[in-house]
Amino acid sequence: MASPNENPQSQNDRGSAAAARLFTILKAAVLTTAAVAGIALLATRLRGTAERSPVTSPVAAASNPTRPVPPPRAVLGAGSCTSSGCHASEVQGHAAWQSSYTVWATRDPHTRAERVLHEPMAAQIVKLLAARDPAWPMVPAHENTACIGCHATGRGPLAREGVSCESCHGPAGDWLVAHTLPDWRAAGNTLGMVDLADPFVCAQQCAGCHVGGPPTADGSPREVSHDLIAAGHPRLAFELRSFKQAEPPHWRDRFAADPAVAAASATGSSKLDPLDEWALGRLGAVHAFLDQIARQAGASTRPRSGTTADTWPEFTAFDCYSCHRPPVAAVDRGETVGGADRPTPLGTPKLEPLHWSLLDLVVQGDTAARLTSLRRDIEYRWWERPDAVTISACLDAIDAARAHVQPALAGMSAGTVAERVVGQIDPANWDEATAAHAALEAVIARAAAHGVPAESLAAAVARLNTLRGLLEFPGDTTGGKRRFDSPHDYDAKAVAAELRGIAAALEALQ
Ligand code: HEC
Ligand code: HEC
Ligand code: HEC
Ligand code: HEC
Repeated sequence: MASPNENPQSQNDRGSAAAARLFTILKAAVLTTAAVAGIALLATRLRGTAERSPVTSPVAAASNPTRPVPPPRAVLGAGSCTSSGCHASEVQGHAAWQSSYTVWATRDPHTRAERVLHEPMAAQIVKLLAARDPAWPMVPAHENTACIGCHATGRGPLAREGVSCESCHGPAGDWLVAHTLPDWRAAGNTLGMVDLADPFVCAQQCAGCHVGGPPTADGSPREVSHDLIAAGHPRLAFELRSFKQAEPPHWRDRFAADPAVAAASATGSSKLDPLDEWALGRLGAVHAFLDQIARQAGASTRPRSGTTADTWPEFTAFDCYSCHRPPVAAVDRGETVGGADRPTPLGTPKLEPLHWSLLDLVVQGDTAARLTSLRRDIEYRWWERPDAVTISACLDAIDAARAHVQPALAGMSAGTVAERVVGQIDPANWDEATAAHAALEAVIARAAAHGVPAESLAAAVARLNTLRGLLEFPGDTTGGKRRFDSPHDYDAKAVAAELRGIAAALEALQ
């Protein structure tokens, strides 16, 4: 029997198409360096002096005491999934799981991940890093431990596969055999197979490379620091829904806007709606982000390739635009739609707002209070190493909070969620507005999944598209590639108007 989820192409419902378009915004995340504000220069000085000594404090050393590092498991390579009876079917109409390998091998961007390390752009990044800091090894990118941690799953000949199955699903050394038996899911999960059906887990897994993560088993760090970005590496910006939907799906869509598709795809209790996926994805990404801050702040435990330089403040933890100011004429900092403490005065870099805004919608009570207080502490004295024990407690709180995310959202109408999204962000901040776009896309997808007809959603969808247009930046023509450049034409007033318009259109649904 043919079901829509058997054809990966047909899974692009309205919701996912909008999410995929958000992805193009994130990709174009643009930035200028022409106008680095005075604060940045101050930061450079601070970086050069106070922060050089390694942290010996027992407090910092106690970072994540409850998180022992498991022993490395063996990576077997994509070839071990390719039996045509397993995941390499090429037969039209076979279920998603039967053709996962085929879809990945022929269409997934991750197969390119190692190849890009052989391209001139990668060579240029390595060259600039070495030129800035002689401690960086002048090793070709594809052999450089600073790069392969995220750009390849296997080592040796397996590296050519790029980012393959086991980077996301977990090294198969211990589970491959159990996984071919009838009780494969249970067996796999206890042996290191990653439960990607859980958006909180999935987001953390992706964020390991798309935000930054602990080093790989062979000690390759997974961090795109400000140094890498300044040398030409793209800024990392992650959002689960849009990133998943920018990949050709080799899986069933359990979050489809079409209720019939979602129901047919759902397995037992793992059925979720798009807003849950958004919220749990946000929580997973913030968990990864905070974990990364803990590593960056604990210099003694942070492996880096060839350099013993200071590690905090690490600028990627903060809002790029706090320091990199576009020619601001178009950005009316006075125009806000909420929040008494806005706009942010120059001199207080926010924690990276794409990941750190809107968290009040996702967590409540004690967890929200902890995160807010940690955030205030870090932002207030941002040049000082954050306290490792506080961060560790926040990570535990986030772990515990995941159970409350869905119940909290389930009781809220589309209009209420939209109101809160729009009330919480500063439309003059590109990252916050982009985070709001992702949230509103998920609100609309949930409404569609709950049976609200397309005609009723048309107004909100149209304004969401306008908003996306306002957040995208024109590509740079030099070299034929989009590069980091400034949101020169960013129009905060127009962004604020669209945000309010979407909220009003969703409010009108009730
Ligand atoms: C934390 C993981 C991580 C590390 C470490 C890392 N990268 Fe990347 N790199 C990525 C991700 C993720 C992307 C894709 C970014 C996107 O499009 O959102 C990327 C993109 C790139 C691109 C652009 C590819 C394209 O399609 O245009 C190049 C080139 C690159 N990386 C080179 C390097 C080099 C050279 C190093 C080592 C100095 C390195 N990377 C280290 C994660 C990483
Ligand atoms: C970039 C990360 C990534 C890579 C690489 C990857 N997967 Fe997946 N895979 C996922 C995600 C995400 C899901 C969806 C989980 C969900 O929503 O249920 C998934 C789902 C699956 C499923 C379940 C399909 C179903 O029925 O829903 C199979 C089987 C699978 N992957 C096999 C593979 C194989 C084989 C490879 C390598 C050839 C591979 N994956 C590579 C991320 C990845
Ligand atoms: C082992 C590291 C790693 C993991 C884990 C990982 N990615 Fe990636 N991903 C990369 C790298 C590196 C690139 C850049 C490849 C390139 O530029 O050719 C990339 C590229 C992508 C792209 C295309 C970006 C572009 O610029 O076009 C998407 C979409 C994506 N990843 C989604 C995901 C999702 C969703 C997950 C989790 C299910 C995930 N990735 C997990 C390393 C990873
Ligand atoms: C606390 C201030 C601060 C923050 C936050 C910050 N930067 Fe920077 N950035 C600087 C300074 C200072 C320089 C120049 C010195 C250097 O290259 O490190 C710079 C340089 C750069 C350069 C290289 C410019 C050139 O012409 O060589 C790029 C690209 C860049 N930053 C991107 C980013 C991105 C993307 C973010 C956000 C993820 C970010 N920066 C966050 C202060 C900051």
